[in-house]
Parts: sequence; structure tokens; C-alpha cells
Amino acid sequence: MNVSPDRNQQAHAADSSSGKMPRHVAFIMDGNGRWATARGLPRTEGHRHGLEALRKTIRHAGKRGIEVVTIYSFSSENWSRPETEVSFLMGLLRRFVQRDLSELHEANVKISVIGGRDDLEKGILALLEEAEQLTRNNTGLNLVVAFNYGARAEIARAAKRLAEDAVRGDIHPDEISEESIGNALDTRGIPDPDLIVRTSGEMRLSNFLLWQAAYSEFYFCDQHWPDFDEAAFDEALACFSNRQRRYGGLDATAL
Ligand code: IPE
Ligand code: IPE
Ligand code: MG
Repeated sequence: MNVSPDRNQQAHAADSSSGKMPRHVAFIMDGNGRWATARGLPRTEGHRHGLEALRKTIRHAGKRGIEVVTIYSFSSENWSRPETEVSFLMGLLRRFVQRDLSELHEANVKISVIGGRDDLEKGILALLEEAEQLTRNNTGLNLVVAFNYGARAEIARAAKRLAEDAVRGDIHPDEISEESIGNALDTRGIPDPDLIVRTSGEMRLSNFLLWQAAYSEFYFCDQHWPDFDEAAFDEALACFSNRQRRYGGLDATAL
């Protein structure tokens, strides 16, 4: 799998007119169940096909020179789904790591995992840690897997960490800043997402990257995740290239 960010390819990307490419794209991979139901298939078939769309997305991100891709693979609220669906999704994650890890490693992909780790089943935790450990020195695409992830829980964990540091006397409460909170989050060291893509027509964050999305651009499309392909990805990139990001300031042209 060739997934190294490729600067030459970047010049041919969908937004070559302006050259504005996101460094970090985060995906809320939604609509697997609806994709399957619309075809008279069990929801699990949607998840299986969703994995194919994910493989395509990772390859295409490398081709387009994107540095970081975050995928929302399982939320801290998804445990409330029927047990059969939850265990299918756990099996799928296991198969993804077991089957794709060596290929991703060969392609120089660095895997990072965000989300709660306490209470995770030991086998799953060991696989996720193995993926991080094996690929930690890779220098290509950074694939951030949000698993058992909920942004409010992540922020609460960060607050707890900082409070513990303060109680120990390692930091003074005055030292708590946007920067120190950012560094206490699971995403420490990872740039904020420039673009957040959600498939399947829902226009909400569903507890994804609440802190990090402060100035992200949002892109919503109607395709269900299993139908998300290279052309759909390029459309999102083209749309991003036309956005004006002001961060509360003014455009250079307005000055
Ligand atoms: C996204 O698809 C995958 C996960 C949440 C794990 P859904 O399973 O949410 O599909 P819909 O939204 O029910 O169609
Ligand atoms: C968000 O999708 C979580 C993932 C894509 C993993 P959901 O399908 O769980 O979100 P809601 O329930 O529609 O908000
Ligand atoms: Mg959904």
C-alpha cells in the first residue's frame, strides 16, 4: 500500500488551483447501517464494506499528501448498541489490525490511538498498543484511530491529570492554559484537524474532537460511508480549498 504523503501528487490534487490542502483530515465514518439496510442486508455487512472504504481513504490520503488522518471508529457511546453489533465491530477492529498492520507499517504509516483505555478488553488493548509500538518511528501518514473515544471523557481525563499535577505541587493552577490542556489531551502533539468530514447526511459531531475542532472546517455529504471513495474525498478537498479561514481575524484582502 503506498500511503506516504507525496508532495508531487499534492500538486495534482483536486484543489491545485489554490494549492490549499488540509494537513489533517478527520472522518466521522457514518452510515454503515443505513447502507446495509437500504440493500436488505444485515447492518454488519455495512460495517464490512465500511472497512473497504477506510482502506481506500487511507491510500488516497497518502496520495494527496495529507499528513494526518483521524478516523472515528467506535465512540464511547457506541457500547449502547446491541451486543451482537458491538462484538462484530470488535472483531472487525481485530481483523483490521491483524491483517493490515504489516502493510501499513511497510507503507511507513504511524498509528496512534485516542480514546479511553481503562476497562478495554485486554486482547483489544494489546492489539492497539502493538500497532502503536510497531509503527511509532514511522514518518509517513499519521493514522489516528479514535476508539472508545468520547471528547467529553477525553477533556475530563485531561482535567483530572492537571488537577493531580497541581495537588502534587508539580504545577501551579495559574500555569493551566490552553496549551497545557491541549498537552493533557489524548491528541497531544497532533495538529488540530483542518477538515472534518461526516458522511451520511448527519450534521453533528457526536462527541468527536470537541476541543480540537475549534477552528476546523466541516464538510457533510449524503453518501453513506461504504460508498465514500476517491472522488468523494477529492470533492471534500476541493470544497476545503475554497474555504476562507479567518480565525476571528480578517482576510488579507479586507485589510
Ligand atoms: C458508523 O455507521 C459506524 C459506527 C458507528 C461504528 P453506523 O453504524 O452509525 O451506521 P448508521 O448511522 O446506523 O447508518
Ligand atoms: C458517530 O456515529 C460515531 C462513529 C462514527 C464511530 P454515530 O452513528 O454513533 O452517531 P449518532 O448516534 O448518529 O450521533
Ligand atoms: Mg450512525
